[in-house]
Amino acid sequence: MAFNCAILDSYLSTLQSSKILAYSSLLFILVGFYRYVSFGYKLTKLFFELFILSGKNLKNYGAGKGAWAVITGASDGIGKEFSLQLAKKGFNVVLVSRTESKLVELANEIEQKFKVNTKVLPFDFSLNQSIDYQALANLIEPLDVTVLINNVGQSHAIPVPFAETEESELSNIILINDLATLKVTRIVTPKLITKRQGLILTMGSFGGLFPTPYLAVYSGSKAFLQQWSSALAAELKPYNVDVDFVLSYLVTSAMSKIRRTSALIPNPKSFVASTLSSIGLQRGAQGRAATSTPYWSHAIFQFAVANTVGELSNIVSNLNLKFHIGIRKRALKKAERENKKL
Ligand SMILES: NC(=O)c1ccc[n+]([C@@H]2O[C@H](COP(=O)([O-])OP(=O)(O)OC[C@H]3O[C@@H](n4cnc5c(N)ncnc54)[C@H](OP(=O)(O)O)[C@@H]3O)[C@@H](O)[C@H]2O)c1
Repeated sequence: MAFNCAILDSYLSTLQSSKILAYSSLLFILVGFYRYVSFGYKLTKLFFELFILSGKNLKNYGAGKGAWAVITGASDGIGKEFSLQLAKKGFNVVLVSRTESKLVELANEIEQKFKVNTKVLPFDFSLNQSIDYQALANLIEPLDVTVLINNVGQSHAIPVPFAETEESELSNIILINDLATLKVTRIVTPKLITKRQGLILTMGSFGGLFPTPYLAVYSGSKAFLQQWSSALAAELKPYNVDVDFVLSYLVTSAMSKIRRTSALIPNPKSFVASTLSSIGLQRGAQGRAATSTPYWSHAIFQFAVANTVGELSNIVSNLNLKFHIGIRKRALKKAERENKKL
């Protein structure tokens, strides 16, 4: 009898372990299948959003019907292109940035070329003066504003270890990139809510998407904007106000100090054209709420990193570290050569 029980026990335990084996194999197959299908879905979505689908028509925000767009950091680079291309689409534009002469020149060019109205507001966001914010509120009060482009931004003069970052640079980056963006949006948003129509587009950066050593403050300032913008998008959805956080790798401009374009580095004109033609499409930024990576090569770059090593991985952080140490060395050598010439 005892002998029979032992055989039964051993039989049951073999059955048990083969059941566990069968269930875990099934689980592996299901997880693998899910990952395979979801990767296929994401890849197809990327392809369609990049090459087949088009974004929301800007007429939805009143283009050509007297609506106004407010653009910060409007006088140069990406902001200047947003100003020109939105005016070309029929928006009146409020141009906000530091240097009045550049704003006036751009406003004249826009009025002549596109026959829309313009207003300019010289505003140094690094000063964080209430009087300037009040001037902006007063300026837009009578205007039918439906679009806000939060473009103004500052990075580090050259890549620098956090411990050596000048305090003025540190606070300017936060004041300009974060506080100014919040305060300007706080002024404009009630108008969009009342109108139940609008678009708030905020410039992000791969510097904030990936951990970026030696640009740590800039990296953190843009990561902050990512979370804030995604949260804002959910708050404003019931009011029919679209919120889009736009991610970008390098673009030729004064800030990037890059002049030559390449497949991965567009000029502001191409970058802004792809942004404005793809409103509502996420392209490379799939899985991030209310976020898009509109430029084709940036989108593919982000997709590849996100689906392999991961955007927040140590591998990305270490590669970025080496890259920026190299840039810092070259920038310091160049400064040394220029100092010797003096
Ligand atoms: N270029 C890139 O590679 C790149 C990549 C990713 C994200 N981005 C983001 O894109 C945005 C635009 O960058 P960009 O390359 O076009 O920059 P940019 O060419 O340097 O232009 C910056 C604009 O902001 C204005 N500005 C700078 N400091 C200001 C201040 N304290 N107060 C008011 N206005 C100020 C400038 O006005 P003044 O001309 O009067 O100084 C200029 O109109 C930024 O948010 C940046 O982080 C850029």
